[in-house]
Amino acid sequence: RTAPLVDPFGRAVTYLRVSVTDRCDFRCVYCMAEDMTFLPKRDVLSLEELDRLCSAFIAQGVRKLRLTGGEPLVRKNIMSLIRSISRHLDSGDLEELTLTTNGSQLARHAAELVACGVRRVNVSVDTLDPVKFKAITRWGDLAKVQEGIRAAQAAGLKVKINAVALKGVNEHEFDDMIRWAHGDGMDLTLIETMPLGEIEPDRVDQYLPLAEVRQRLGERWSLVDIPYKTGGPARYVEIRETGGRLGFITPLTHNFCESCNRVRVTCTGTLYMCLGQEDAADLRTALRASESDGPLQAAIVEAISRKPKGHDFIIDRRAGRPAVSRHMSVTGG
Ligand code: GTP
Ligand code: 5AD
Ligand code: SF4
Repeated sequence: RTAPLVDPFGRAVTYLRVSVTDRCDFRCVYCMAEDMTFLPKRDVLSLEELDRLCSAFIAQGVRKLRLTGGEPLVRKNIMSLIRSISRHLDSGDLEELTLTTNGSQLARHAAELVACGVRRVNVSVDTLDPVKFKAITRWGDLAKVQEGIRAAQAAGLKVKINAVALKGVNEHEFDDMIRWAHGDGMDLTLIETMPLGEIEPDRVDQYLPLAEVRQRLGERWSLVDIPYKTGGPARYVEIRETGGRLGFITPLTHNFCESCNRVRVTCTGTLYMCLGQEDAADLRTALRASESDGPLQAAIVEAISRKPKGHDFIIDRRAGRPAVSRHMSVTGG
């Protein structure tokens, strides 16, 4: 093992988010364009290379690993990667192995995920209205996602629901979503929409500050701040009436960069030190340059020494273009 990764602001990097594919079977409006050109297969790291990359980060102090996409479960043979990485859970070097998924393929993978040591998954559901769901995902089937969630729970996985808060789209559904999620023993987190990718006029109109949502919810529910921590950016309250947890992810109204502990790597081996910045480091070259992990680990240390203090997001009509031009699907959030 080598020294743990610490950035110039004294923040230890212990959480790695790995986008295992840029592909997805949905096209959520805030994440992808309808007509996407996906990466040619030859540019994408093999599962063996992804394993080496993850293992190098774990050797450098990463304790929490989250697979994302695109949609992680559409990557061919993804279970073999998950099974292989789970050896780090067995050895105690890794504390959590998990994924963020759209749920569409969850039913057929749930039992095996549990067998690989996955304890919980985050599933994106922005609305409980099947027609709206189809509009947001462009063709997703809500019933299939709900079936995936039920299968995950039946297999013993804890499920957290992620909902991006969208003005004029789902803003009047949060009470129903709280009742649904908490009624089924799931945490729910609301997320401020972040301006990545070419910003359509819609997105500026749909931005909903969660400070406002929290205040409105507080008029109907008793929200009690709780110190619950997952290693992610959400701040949680417990809702007295339901006994369930509600999280707020507020990159725009309440910046959480000060306590940032994470970086993300794409399926081509590009390391982004911050979700809300363009700066990146190529790890694929170092990975392929040598069979030993020395050059790779050195490239990781060098990249972390450039981790910025915080994001550049602004949601402002006058800004014209987003500060971050890549789509959310490149890093999976
Ligand atoms: P938990 O382990 O359950 O806390 O999950 P998480 O919140 O870390 O991960 P998830 O994939 O569920 O992400 C939820 C939302 O948080 C997504 O919209 C992410 O883009 C956003 N998010 C996660 N990490 C960061 C971050 O470092 N910065 C910003 N701005 N957003 C983040
Ligand atoms: N802003 C905020 N959250 C987003 N997600 C995808 N795109 C955006 C965006 N532009 C969410 C997904 C998923 C999580 C990984 O990120 O809904 O739950
Ligand atoms: Fe970390 Fe960047 Fe997210 Fe801030 S925006 S919490 S610095 S990844």
